[in-house]
Amino acid sequence: MEVALREVRDADLRVFFAQMNEPEGVRMAAFTAEDPSDSADFHARWTRIRQNPEVVVRTVTDGRGEIVGHASVFGPPEEREVTYWIGRQYWGRGVASAALRELLRLAPERPVFARAAADNLGSIRVLEKCGFVVSGHDRGFANARGEEVDEVLFTLRR
Ligand SMILES: CC(C)(COP(=O)(O)OP(=O)(O)OC[C@H]1O[C@@H](n2cnc3c(N)ncnc32)[C@H](O)[C@@H]1OP(=O)(O)O)[C@@H](O)C(=O)NCCC(=O)NCCS
Repeated sequence: MEVALREVRDADLRVFFAQMNEPEGVRMAAFTAEDPSDSADFHARWTRIRQNPEVVVRTVTDGRGEIVGHASVFGPPEEREVTYWIGRQYWGRGVASAALRELLRLAPERPVFARAAADNLGSIRVLEKCGFVVSGHDRGFANARGEEVDEVLFTLRR
């Protein structure tokens, strides 16, 4: 599927909110907001994200301009990290891989890091397809699971 990245618009947030409340995605991502359905918290967080000069955040669209998700790079220069979220109905069509590839072109600094719940096989595959390699393991409390889960840490060196 063809994808494009563009600047985030106010009207996109409604779609991101719905996507980030899809139960299957929330469970998969694991490390989510404490209560993804808290709209005030969501909007406060997105206001901070969009105002933060250290964040490169883009809306991911399909070839016709439909919003399919978002992708971002955040964090201080020595700890740049990527994250992404694609709406359930678009999964399995290469969207996340294409979006991350494009994002990495927009944000060329290296190394860049990523982390995924150890059982988030989709996200792990996306990272590997984009050249990230496993650089460590961690364990942390995952709001969406209500317990600690294993995490895999990734690094993209070039
Ligand atoms: C993880 C996620 C981004 C994958 O998005 P996607 O657009 O479906 O990914 P792609 O289509 O680019 O898939 C890339 C690869 O992962 C594989 N894959 C995708 N979902 C998978 C799954 N649930 N289990 C195993 N493999 C999976 C695909 O088969 C593909 O591999 P291939 O090219 O070798 O066939 C998407 O499911 C999502 O947004 N989930 C919720 C949020 C989240 O987990 N974000 C990441 C937080 S670390």
